[in-house]
Amino acid sequence: MKYVDVEKIKKDFPILNVKPHGKKLIYLDNAATTQKPISVIKAMDRYYEELNANVYRSPHYLSALSTQAYEEARERVKKFINAKTEESIIFTRNTTESINFIAYTWGMKYINEGDEIILTIAEHHSNILPWQMVAEAKKAKLKYVYLDDDFRLSMKDFKEKMSDKVKLIAIQHMSNVLGIINPVEEITHIAHKYGAKVLIDGAQSVPHMPVDVQKIDCDFFAFSGHKMLGPMGIGVLYIKEDLLKEVPPFLRGGEMIDEVYEDYSTFAPSPLKFEAGTPNIEGAYVLISAIDYIEKIGLTNIYKHEGELLEYGLQKMKELDFVKLYGPKDAKERGGLISFNVEGVHPHDVATILDEEGIAVRSGHHCCQPLMRYLGVPATVRASFYLYNDFEDIDALVEGLKKVRKWFK
Ligand code: ALA
Repeated sequence: MKYVDVEKIKKDFPILNVKPHGKKLIYLDNAATTQKPISVIKAMDRYYEELNANVYRSPHYLSALSTQAYEEARERVKKFINAKTEESIIFTRNTTESINFIAYTWGMKYINEGDEIILTIAEHHSNILPWQMVAEAKKAKLKYVYLDDDFRLSMKDFKEKMSDKVKLIAIQHMSNVLGIINPVEEITHIAHKYGAKVLIDGAQSVPHMPVDVQKIDCDFFAFSGHKMLGPMGIGVLYIKEDLLKEVPPFLRGGEMIDEVYEDYSTFAPSPLKFEAGTPNIEGAYVLISAIDYIEKIGLTNIYKHEGELLEYGLQKMKELDFVKLYGPKDAKERGGLISFNVEGVHPHDVATILDEEGIAVRSGHHCCQPLMRYLGVPATVRASFYLYNDFEDIDALVEGLKKVRKWFK
């Protein structure tokens, strides 16, 4: 493999030694969650062995250490996505919470009757349902942008749907089903000309390619730690600096206030204003180790590596005449995942047989029911790659699919 030393990397991931049904584990479910390197696993212990305390509140040694670690995590995330200020980085539970955060706060305040919200048909449910809630509550309208013949977002359709009525475009950076990478920079540029804000669901992009929120110029950006080698339960919401004052707080409670009176309160500036209660300090601290690991390899290398796997995988799968692929024909501007179906076999059966071979994939609607309806299928199987996958994993998948075919023929 040209861009990353997979053999060496595999040794850093203890879980890859698990033998499902006595077989070698081929983990191809990285879009759902990624495995963790030993340095990340060790950081979890280190947090509780060496620095656990609540942040900001207490003037003791441990609290100073945990506060420092928590703020270092914010600084690292800021650099990781090239935000302008730390105040723009809010820790949440995950991408879903980050998107709901903006729907319940900015959305409920600034989207009004007759306004429009633009989504794409390929959105994950977590970037649909919060906006359905806002649209229903505020009598706003949802509009969907559809795909072109090659499963890519139709920019023609997007441009036709833009108008002064549109207040928000909520769009995924990379699709968790099709792997398409949307031209978010161009979309943001167009949206801003109409005075609309842009929220980007970056759950699938941030772990796999360099992301620069200043270059994109988006207003809100959401992603999760667990899909980028980090722990469960830590997510990020980026809010552009000039919106920090106008976004109201989401949750209200401890450590987010300036003054509290009997009948009203004033709030602390961001990020405190947006992080009521005890945050996931451990999660933020461990996320630093995940970022360390990714930066050591380099996101450009990871992206190119997955590009190689994708190209190889597409070529191999195209040779299987009983497999139907969903997604653009070539690997250009696509993330490292392949959605497919085996002729005449339900995706859950495909995934179950692959599991017998030690191959972990996801099957189902992938939390994208509108997209499934649009594609005219109830479900697909999805193989998604990361930095510890190699050509052998894809060969194993292809052999597994041949077995599926034999089984059902
Ligand atoms: N959104 C994640 C996936 O696509 C969970 O599997």
